[in-house]
Amino acid sequence: MKLNPKIAPSMMCVNLFETERCIKAFEENDISYLHIDVMDGVFTPNFTLGTDYVRQLRNLTDIPLDIHLMITNPENKLGWFDIKKDEYVSIHFESTCHVQRALKIIKDAGAKPMIALNPATPINVLDHILDDIDAVLLMTVNPGFAGQALIPSTLEKISVLREYLDKRGYGGIEIEVDGNVSFENAEKMRKNGANIFVAGSSSLFSKDLDLSSAIDKLKKAIT
Ligand code: DX5
Ligand code: ZN
Repeated sequence: MKLNPKIAPSMMCVNLFETERCIKAFEENDISYLHIDVMDGVFTPNFTLGTDYVRQLRNLTDIPLDIHLMITNPENKLGWFDIKKDEYVSIHFESTCHVQRALKIIKDAGAKPMIALNPATPINVLDHILDDIDAVLLMTVNPGFAGQALIPSTLEKISVLREYLDKRGYGGIEIEVDGNVSFENAEKMRKNGANIFVAGSSSLFSKDLDLSSAIDKLKKAIT
């Protein structure tokens, strides 16, 4: 079952003073989700967007959020984000020893639980949580910064994951890719089974194209 392709612009790549203009372009181009990177300076060597930014963004648009939590012990902090129905919320498998508890909190809030795996984390860590997730976020770079180069081995990891899920009867579980999702890489990632594309500095926010043209070009690459 080929899952519909979706684009999730990475809001940490948006110039803060251009946020409203970008949101308008996203609404006009049927963008599916807005990808929000939350970092705590512990799980990742960087700080980015937080609870206030999430709240203000919800006031600005009805486009559902895709909240990527790169924080330690998310099970203790999920309540801070006032999670909404049908939003995606991802936690990292490597960030807590209470993975199933955190996923259940997200599901109980009516949102869609997503589990994020760092490039070196093996796929079989999913063995006992397949019923607790709606999607897997495969990091194609090490989490922490925009503008990094793709880790080549992650391309094959996408197809291995797709086969792993389909073989176990979880064909409906979506695969999101995050990190250097350029127009070229997106095409390969789509062929290998990804269907949600976090678009940042190497596609939507690359200097070469205006936003609407970049959205069109990415849509072509993943369709
Ligand atoms: C990195 C973040 C990504 C990042 C993507 O840790 O999770 O969402 O913003 O940026 P690009 O597309 O520039 O790699
Ligand atoms: Zn991200």
